[in-house]
Amino acid sequence: MVSPVILGVETSCDETAAALVTHDGRILANVVSSQAQLHARFGGVVPEIASRHHLELLLPVLRQALDEAEASLDDVDTVGVTVGPGLIGALLVGTAAAKALAWARRLPLVPVDHLHGHVASLYLEPDPLEPPFLCLLASGGHTMLLDVEDEGGYTVVGTTLDDAAGEAFDKGARLLGLGYPGGVEIDRLSREGDPEAFSFPVARVGGYDFSFSGLKTALLYTVRDLAPDELERRRADLAASYQRAIVRALVERTRGAAESLGAERVAVVGGVAANSELRASLPDAVAAPLALCTDNAAMIASAARYAEAIQFPHYLALDAYASA
Ligand code: KG4
Ligand code: ZN
Repeated sequence: MVSPVILGVETSCDETAAALVTHDGRILANVVSSQAQLHARFGGVVPEIASRHHLELLLPVLRQALDEAEASLDDVDTVGVTVGPGLIGALLVGTAAAKALAWARRLPLVPVDHLHGHVASLYLEPDPLEPPFLCLLASGGHTMLLDVEDEGGYTVVGTTLDDAAGEAFDKGARLLGLGYPGGVEIDRLSREGDPEAFSFPVARVGGYDFSFSGLKTALLYTVRDLAPDELERRRADLAASYQRAIVRALVERTRGAAESLGAERVAVVGGVAANSELRASLPDAVAAPLALCTDNAAMIASAARYAEAIQFPHYLALDAYASA
């Protein structure tokens, strides 16, 4: 066991996660317990159910992380925790636990912004990326283009005007009668379909922003016009064409921004960065490792290395926030 280490805690949505990361960015343990199956029958995350399960899962997940790293709490010298944005009840479970752990051992606590966490998934060993770069952050809650100048933060240059890309995947999957989370299902089914079978619109909005709500409506109308047996037969084609439209919107905007901002390197992070077509469509971009695309605590511990720590005991009044 190499000490000291950073303990990362993440509970902003439906993943309960704890990780142990060294100060130079090596992951010693990264445990994620997804509640996706619990929320699947509701077709999306139910906040109250998420909070309750974080409460049940956090300590077992933390114990597993310590076991995997062959560490004990004595090896932890810093606690990093997601304080927002996310579901407020879910965030409060993680922040309360992190505060208690830090307070009991008189450790400093680092409040981490979840989006900074996604970007910091790129700073971990064995292949850390060094700023500057342009970053496409595409998740279930956000779709942004970020100008990353140093590890401590970024400037937002573009954002979605309505739905996030992951939300478009999830809502599309629901319309197609697929499971939750939708991105993975659409990604899988798309491999069996023809992406040119249907033509879905790629919204053109100003600046470096994104818009996905028109695309979702287009899918809704297309599905409505199909007879049930035809929908069944063409489901894979619909998934592939819909995925193509989302990926095209992300890729076009990212390439355009990189060109006009003169960015030499482009990176992709967030749950949607796990999408196989998106990864293949941006071959020159640095994509976050697959295990670090969807929510995890290693990225939170990573971000904690570059954010300001609050010393014992001043973090006791620290609050979580739902939106950025
Ligand atoms: O980053 P993340 O785990 O949570 C948020 O911060 O929102 O992202 C979750 C999102 C979900 O919308 C999910 O459908 C999407 O990422 N996602 C994918 C894939 N895997 C997860 N979308 C497309 N293709 C995938 N393979
Ligand atoms: Zn996330």
